[in-house]
Amino acid sequence: MTPKKEPFRLALSYDDVLLVPHYSDIPSRKQINLTTMFSKRIRLNIPVVSANMDTVTGAEMAIHMARQGGMGIIHRFQSAEEEANEVHLVKRSENIFIPDPITLNKEATLREALALMERNHVTGVIVISSDRSIEGILTARDVRFKTDLNASIKSLMTPKEKVILAKQNITSEEALKILDKNKIEKLPLIDAKGKLCGLITATDYKKTKENPRASKDKHGRLLVGAAIGVKDGMERAGLLVKAGADALIIDIAHGHHNTCIGLVKKLKKEFPSVDIVAGNVATREGTLALIKAGADAVKVGIGPGAACSTRIVAGAGVPQLTAVMESVAVAQKFKVPIIADGGIKNSGDLAKAIATGAGTAMIGNLFSGCKESPGEYYIEGGEAFKIYRGLASRDASADMAIRGGGDSEKQNRAPEGIGYRVTFKGEVRKILAGLIDGLQSGMSYTGAKNLKEFYQKAEFVRITDAGMRESKPRSHQI
Ligand code: XMP
Repeated sequence: MTPKKEPFRLALSYDDVLLVPHYSDIPSRKQINLTTMFSKRIRLNIPVVSANMDTVTGAEMAIHMARQGGMGIIHRFQSAEEEANEVHLVKRSENIFIPDPITLNKEATLREALALMERNHVTGVIVISSDRSIEGILTARDVRFKTDLNASIKSLMTPKEKVILAKQNITSEEALKILDKNKIEKLPLIDAKGKLCGLITATDYKKTKENPRASKDKHGRLLVGAAIGVKDGMERAGLLVKAGADALIIDIAHGHHNTCIGLVKKLKKEFPSVDIVAGNVATREGTLALIKAGADAVKVGIGPGAACSTRIVAGAGVPQLTAVMESVAVAQKFKVPIIADGGIKNSGDLAKAIATGAGTAMIGNLFSGCKESPGEYYIEGGEAFKIYRGLASRDASADMAIRGGGDSEKQNRAPEGIGYRVTFKGEVRKILAGLIDGLQSGMSYTGAKNLKEFYQKAEFVRITDAGMRESKPRSHQI
């Protein structure tokens, strides 16, 4: 193929454009609907997902993203078992009906019970015999003042005679009444033979009420995606699907590659029940190739990310606004959503990304440094910081070699990412609320009450450096 040289195509970034204000009859931003498609079968209530990076998304971030109506993608920079466990934690976290409650036998010690509770982030366990008959229940209340860790839980649990049970097919309204009337936190469910077959908890009702916008699967569990690489992609995918992942995200720097195309085909065949997301690409051709292979969503972005140095190191990439717009133009014909990945610096960029017709935007840097992102904060000079780092940074590659999950050939001498400290930002819920308010404001200026209208009505103008300078707040200067 002849290399494409002059005349050069123009490619733009978010900062090169603004949305033109249009007539609007939207009474309030709150009436704007942000429902969107993440992939062919996954609907979200806000068009935002957190990046599959080891300083951005683990189980905790994914839980909070889904509670707010978005979704988190668990990173793969850990062993397959660890990643599957994170998926499992998300799926269990807010489930009105838990089909596989945590159980113990009555000979176990308090020490074992506490360890089990801590590992699974639960406040109680059901005590059963080998044939799953209920022997009792052990809750935080039963163990609050107990100090003998070797005590058998038989002596501490609430025995079966006092445990309130319900039938398997109870409705959620009936269950809520029983929880309320008896002032209990947990309602074990039994099948026709009287064996344990599920659990309903008061905490989950509360969470459901608090987060009406939460993204959930058909069983009422929070949605979660999980990343895989090329090297152990198929084996890892098996564990992740078993743990309940709703989508598998192929995480490859250069997705317009035969290995990625091949992996999409294999995954589609092997795991038809989950959506397969492929990327990253930055062109029409790349998008088309992945869609033809069967991708249920395509992730677009080569080098726009805050911790990326691909464009400097490899000299390759396409400014993100153009990359996303061109990919959307192709993907729309196939009704495949585009994920605009990287380069979102503020809510205005989010509005521009979604106005291009992308289904969602993937965000790393803005969510790093949050309470829910993996890693501890540290104090320096009286201020709190956390670390944010590119997946292809030298640091991340070195860690990956120890923790598993990476592709070791990435440990090269030309890392395509950097790491840096970010100010501790507190709860992601608040960051997300600011982003969403800004997006809704952008939609209101465009006169759009939903994302379909936003795409149809959005008009960009290209601005100059002077236009950008004028756009930024300035302190009063002579
Ligand atoms: P933001 O701008 O939200 O971007 O921080 C997050 C996205 O950046 C990508 N990413 C990288 N790209 N080298 C790269 O070229 C890296 O080391 C790297 N780490 C993350 C990734 O697509 C992420 O979602």
